[in-house]
Amino acid sequence: MNWLDICALEDINALGSRIINGPKGDIAIFRTSDDEVFALDDRCPHKGGPLSQGLIYGKRVACPLHNWQIDLETGQAQAPDVGCAHQHSARVENGRVLLALRDAS
Ligand code: FES
Repeated sequence: MNWLDICALEDINALGSRIINGPKGDIAIFRTSDDEVFALDDRCPHKGGPLSQGLIYGKRVACPLHNWQIDLETGQAQAPDVGCAHQHSARVENGRVLLALRDAS
């Protein structure tokens, strides 16, 4: 996997996110309260809401538009809602946030 160095972990607020421009649109990188990072396309699977502006709790983000709950690890909407945000691999190594882009399929 081709990992890109995005930024320092401290550059993303705890329970916050950072947007980067991916080849197929914006990608939101989320930081949880446990200093884990996750990356999803910044488009809610419902109607395209900006997930980067949602409320992060645990390993989920609540979409700011209609409050769908999106799992940060998988991008899956939580039942009863159905849909999936495109997910990318992200991790922290030596205090740096690394991202591996995955093509949309
Ligand atoms: S656009 Fe995200 S819940 Fe509707």
